[in-house]
Amino acid sequence: MIADRMQEFEASGIRKVFDLAQKIKNPINLSIGQPDFDVPEEVKKEAIKAIERGFNRYTITQGIPELSEKILEKARKERGIKGESIMITSGVAGALTLAFLVLINPGDEVLVPDPYFVSFKHLVHLCGGKIKFIDTYPDFELTPERILPHISQRTKILIINSPSNPTGVVCKPQHLIEICDIAKEHNLIIISDEIYKKFVYEIEYQSIGKFYENTLTCNGFSKSYAMTGWRLGSAIGPAKIINEMMKLQQYAYICAPSFAQVAGVKAMDINMDEYIEDYKKKRDFVCDGLKERYKVTKPDGAFYVFPQVPWGTDEEFVTEAIKHDLLIIPGSVFSEKKTHFRLSYAASYETLERGVEILNSLSKRL
Ligand SMILES: Cc1ncc(COP(=O)(O)O)c(C=O)c1O
Repeated sequence: MIADRMQEFEASGIRKVFDLAQKIKNPINLSIGQPDFDVPEEVKKEAIKAIERGFNRYTITQGIPELSEKILEKARKERGIKGESIMITSGVAGALTLAFLVLINPGDEVLVPDPYFVSFKHLVHLCGGKIKFIDTYPDFELTPERILPHISQRTKILIINSPSNPTGVVCKPQHLIEICDIAKEHNLIIISDEIYKKFVYEIEYQSIGKFYENTLTCNGFSKSYAMTGWRLGSAIGPAKIINEMMKLQQYAYICAPSFAQVAGVKAMDINMDEYIEDYKKKRDFVCDGLKERYKVTKPDGAFYVFPQVPWGTDEEFVTEAIKHDLLIIPGSVFSEKKTHFRLSYAASYETLERGVEILNSLSKRL
């Protein structure tokens, strides 16, 4: 009954952890991939106002101009992004789904840095694409040297996710420029998932779309403004690609939620620095708390760390952690390796403190 293409899919490893979490009464939950703050009040009010005003119908597929023009202008002015066209999507997940569907022919090769955000792998497979993983262990840097050996005649797309889920690592500007040279030489399309770009600490963020025209820059409101359930994102890139994505969106999701688009315009004026500063402190708290007993790369962005497991496989270690009421995610959910785990520090200090304590107590096999 079910189509063959679904045989490629396994239930997400994150879902398995969530299922286990249901059984624990008071879990110490460091598995969550979304901010622990709520949508800013002004943004909620704007959404409610839009609904009450009757702004409840389909919008045009490409999204309301107040939002798309504001995003495009900001991307060009503040980040120097070259993209010709923009469309509003149902989250970054929506943008990625459309992009892969319009770009990948069966057998096309897609370069994915490992560790990776789990949807990349499944969506590329769904479209018949072949994934070539670029091993970025142990420092998780995406460098030209690591990319080059994987390029073939069939390579079409390079995915960049900076800051990265699950490692939090941000691409170095000098690497971005060299990566663009490779992309130019081999006529690659770069899909840049920048959903965590607001969560960058100490360093200045650079978008690869500033250096390379053939980039599809995907961005969203889910993490920046804690609007994960509102499903709002955007894609900026060559008109040729965006036009095809719009065609498909018309038949698939039609448009992003109308009230969320209106509220998104408001959200863009809100300063989130205070939240970002808090997450930087939480990153330091967790990295300092673990550094004696774990190998952990201190990341420059997002709200994750990706330490090496101190013993056993990632699943063995995470199973033990769950027995102690601590929820973390096995690294193999995001990787071809079974050596690490993902910890999200988008949690209260109390939770982080308990989590760090348990991890330290588990660092030697019991
Ligand atoms: C790297 C990355 N891209 C995309 C998404 C999905 O984002 P959205 O909620 O905008 O669809 C996530 C969510 O966790 C993510 O981590």
